Amino acid sequence: MSLTISLNDGSQVPWLGFGTGTALFGQDAATFVKAAIETGITHLDGAQAYRNEETLGKGIKDSGVKREKLFITTKLAETPAGPIKSTLKTSLKDLGVDQVDLFLIHSPFLARKEEGKLKQWWKEMEEIKKEGLAKSIGVSNFKVEDLQVILEDATIIPSVNQIEMHPYIWDTASVVYDFCKEKGIVVQSYGGLSPITVYSGGSVDPILASAAERLSKESGTTVSPGQVLTKWLIQKGVIIITTSSKVSRIKESLAVPSLPDLTSDEISAIETEGLKVHKRYRMRHVFDE
Ligand SMILES: NC(=O)c1ccc[n+]([C@@H]2O[C@H](COP(=O)([O-])OP(=O)(O)OC[C@H]3O[C@@H](n4cnc5c(N)ncnc54)[C@H](OP(=O)(O)O)[C@@H]3O)[C@@H](O)[C@H]2O)c1
Repeated sequence: MSLTISLNDGSQVPWLGFGTGTALFGQDAATFVKAAIETGITHLDGAQAYRNEETLGKGIKDSGVKREKLFITTKLAETPAGPIKSTLKTSLKDLGVDQVDLFLIHSPFLARKEEGKLKQWWKEMEEIKKEGLAKSIGVSNFKVEDLQVILEDATIIPSVNQIEMHPYIWDTASVVYDFCKEKGIVVQSYGGLSPITVYSGGSVDPILASAAERLSKESGTTVSPGQVLTKWLIQKGVIIITTSSKVSRIKESLAVPSLPDLTSDEISAIETEGLKVHKRYRMRHVFDE
């Protein structure tokens, strides 16, 4: 099923992105990217900080899929090595493309410390979109306060805020999610599988298991707790960034839109159970935790 999400500038984003950070950080991502594209992924999530944009570019080229069929994201390094535009030009060269579909400020952490810096960065991002080096622009790991700073003077509203989002972080993520929704900024989630990958055994497990059992019965296929988490994210209307070294798991994720929906009771149980604990896996420094 090809599901896309509309951004505030009219661009369409494939609902599931394959990430080249975390497990592939600093690694040669080419074979994994090629395999992901061959499995049906059309959205790739990279970053200058991942130190593997060249191999992301190689994987894209090796897949043989036409550039216009793919949605490619990269992100500005937390400490940019020069003017933002020149860092993006280096990324474009490494990726082997003339334009990225989405360019994000990876983190507000350092810019936040210097008066006026965040606003200046956003101005540079707006220039980049105007020049066509990135089709859409956005941010990542921005709290409401960070968004408010750039929105004061923005002539272009960020299209996306990519944040850690899973039930165990719903207490803080929901505040950012609600604000983004109000402003027309689409949330992209990362770390969505953390409740089963890094925090298994927690309060959300029983509801994931019971929902997986119900969905398995209704769909006639075996539905996993990971697929239930992915379904929860889809029903929250977010774009999902995940990754896997295993083609079987990429297929599992791609199958989720075709599964029956979670009921509103299941959704509220996932959120109620998730709110019982707070666990942030990434970017604790950005959220002062
Ligand atoms: N903007 C940011 O600051 C930021 C921060 C972190 C991540 N990201 C982006 O988001 C991407 C994904 O991040 P993430 O690793 O946190 O995502 P995730 O979707 O929570 O976890 C993916 C990891 O879980 C494993 N996995 C996948 N499906 C599974 C399943 N059904 N059961 C058990 N394990 C499973 C995978 O390992 P296997 O290879 O074994 O399947 C993979 O390493 C990154 O690559 C990056 O592009 C962005």
